[in-house]
Amino acid sequence: MAENTPAKSIGVGLISVGWMGRLHSRAYNSLPLIYPELGIHPTLVQAADVAEAGRTYATDVLGYASAVADYHEVLANPEVDVVSICAPNFLHAEIGIAAAKAGKPFWIEKPVGRGASETEAVEAAADEAGVVTCIGFNYRHVPAIQRARELVLNGSLGQITNIRGRFFGGFSSNPNDPLAWRFVREYSGSGVLGDLMGHLVDLVHYVLGPIGSITATTGTYITERPALPHSPQAGTMLPVENEDYATMLVKFDDSAVAAGALGSLEASRIAVGPRSEYGIEIFGTKGSVRWEFERLNELEIALGNEGPNTGYIRAVADAYFPDFARFQPSSGTSMGYDDLKTIEAAKFLLAVTGGEATNSNIHDAVASARVLTAAEESAASGSWIDLPLVAGATANTRTLTTEGQKR
Ligand SMILES: NC(=O)c1ccc[n+]([C@@H]2O[C@H](COP(=O)([O-])OP(=O)(O)OC[C@H]3O[C@@H](n4cnc5c(N)ncnc54)[C@H](O)[C@@H]3O)[C@@H](O)[C@H]2O)c1
Repeated sequence: MAENTPAKSIGVGLISVGWMGRLHSRAYNSLPLIYPELGIHPTLVQAADVAEAGRTYATDVLGYASAVADYHEVLANPEVDVVSICAPNFLHAEIGIAAAKAGKPFWIEKPVGRGASETEAVEAAADEAGVVTCIGFNYRHVPAIQRARELVLNGSLGQITNIRGRFFGGFSSNPNDPLAWRFVREYSGSGVLGDLMGHLVDLVHYVLGPIGSITATTGTYITERPALPHSPQAGTMLPVENEDYATMLVKFDDSAVAAGALGSLEASRIAVGPRSEYGIEIFGTKGSVRWEFERLNELEIALGNEGPNTGYIRAVADAYFPDFARFQPSSGTSMGYDDLKTIEAAKFLLAVTGGEATNSNIHDAVASARVLTAAEESAASGSWIDLPLVAGATANTRTLTTEGQKR
């Protein structure tokens, strides 16, 4: 990242003060401590939440100067320079488009839209307004993932032959949990595809390059749930409208660093046992790497296929892993999930202040959303679907090396 940027004060507006809204706020507060050389000083100006508890938390705990119920006030506030959009999924596109029209750069949680077309509508509005965007694809900032990306990019793994990724959560595994918004198409769009698979697809695009074609299948296993206790249908069972589990086979696009490679990606929200089992394995002709979210600070690396040290060696994150040393001076002292959002905040505000644009942006969100929408179509038709090439802005595509050679 750029060094010695002149000091800049940035007024922050927040829309929705739930888990992610609180985390975005902590990230803004950490940024000047972790990235002092950027000279960026976020000020928490105004938060919006329909719930009074959210507004009180914003002012009394997080330190926002004021809090309101209507998010439009945040977008109209002249002291707000950038906006974090952390609302439930069904509001993302509406708020993203409104933020773009208000000329505010925005950092928005995933999924940006309920499917590709809604995501593309946000992209069109952001492009027209020319505002910087950043997407909550936080897992791409994991130092071990950034290290894996380097190993793919510099050829240490040879030609990538195949990959395997999975994101298994158990947060919806209890059939007695009520029919919250995430199970209803109108509010959530797809199920586990938008919720977890979107993260995995973005990670794959970031580390290996654009996916070129897919075939997918999905399943819903907890087919009905109790209506929410305060809803008009309380006491009845209502249908779950989207998928609990999804799996896809992928082929990489010719433009990808992993061109020619094949792979499988799976996601579940009803897995009993896994808590947040998010992992990726990458196999190449010269080596392999594998990473697990529950062991965030480790990367297993295998280089070469002969000699006494063949097989996986566990590398614990250290100063050789991008960004790690900013958080911990000593290898073996762990970074955590919140730190990923601090990195994301730094990338967002660096781009906003005219520095290097290493942030994920709305084009990356569209690239991921198109894969997910194609997965829904493929699950319905049983066919392979060729995707139009949408590389996203930061996908790992084949480019010239500094020596001017094509990888
Ligand atoms: N990047 C990640 O790893 C990650 C992790 C969790 C959630 N998320 C995403 O973040 C988003 C928010 O999830 P969360 O877990 O923080 O939800 P949450 O339920 O904790 O918080 C949602 C908040 O939105 C508020 N809200 C509802 N309607 C509103 C409106 N009209 N205006 C303003 N506020 C409103 C609610 O009162 C609540 O405070 C979701 O889209 C989710 O997919 C991303």
